[in-house]
Amino acid sequence: MAKVALVTGGTRGIGEAISLALKQAGFNVVANYFGNETAAQSFHQQTGIPIYRFDVGNFEDTQAAVHKIEAEVGPIEVLINNAGITRDATLQKMSFEQWNAVIQTNLTSCFNTCRAVIDGMRDRKYGRIVNIGSINGQAGQYGQVNYAAAKSGIHGFTKALAQEGAAKGITVNAIAPGYIATEMVRAVPPNILEKIVAKIPVGRLGESSEIARGVVFLASDDAGFITGSTLSINGGQHMY
Ligand code: CAA
Repeated sequence: MAKVALVTGGTRGIGEAISLALKQAGFNVVANYFGNETAAQSFHQQTGIPIYRFDVGNFEDTQAAVHKIEAEVGPIEVLINNAGITRDATLQKMSFEQWNAVIQTNLTSCFNTCRAVIDGMRDRKYGRIVNIGSINGQAGQYGQVNYAAAKSGIHGFTKALAQEGAAKGITVNAIAPGYIATEMVRAVPPNILEKIVAKIPVGRLGESSEIARGVVFLASDDAGFITGSTLSINGGQHMY
């Protein structure tokens, strides 16, 4: 039977590419979304992948949604924590709301989803968790104390949970994408983006599919000896 894979933020951007690549690799994919109803509906119509709307930053809503998915689709064996937002501003201009929204959606979400699936994975002695971090969590980024802190937190979270899951057949890894051609990156002011791209040795933005292929590998049975690692996919921009 095909393994059930839940992709958070799985209907747009990098998440959409991950959902499609996992489906193509034979997983029974379920995609979460929250913000953009229209994009999610069109994703569902085009791909046939079931979509579930809930706020991954909200603990109770996430527990309820995961139980619903497991009742309707089956036990979640692969979890991809991809949902993420930006609220860029320099610290002196950043509001508490901008700080908190990014921490909740990008980092607390990993606790919320993992907490909901971990008992089942431990009972079945199998799990694949892939958390999407960021180059900006490794290197920092001007205007992103919230995002860099959340993504850096994801990398620590990954290593800690990897230690807890190792003896139970659960691997936990992170991917740290660089600048990928998505709406999120295109929202960076063009003059700033130009300077960032100039510093990417490969000389271009990455493609969402290039992140998705890394996820499929880490989610596969073949990756059973890889845990607690971070795969940097960034065109050589930061070698870590
Ligand atoms: N390094 C050093 N200085 C910088 C800088 C940088 N990266 N970016 C801007 N500055 C400087 C500017 O040159 C400017 O200097 P002057 O006043 O001397 O001209 C000063 O800082 C103020 O810059 P802005 O006018 O841009 O300030 P602002 O308050 O209007 O905007 C900002 C600040 C919102 C942070 C804006 O600079 C910005 O959007 N930066 C891009 C942040 C970014 O890269 N975000 C990544 C989003 S994609 C993502 O996060 C996905 C992923 O995982 C990679």
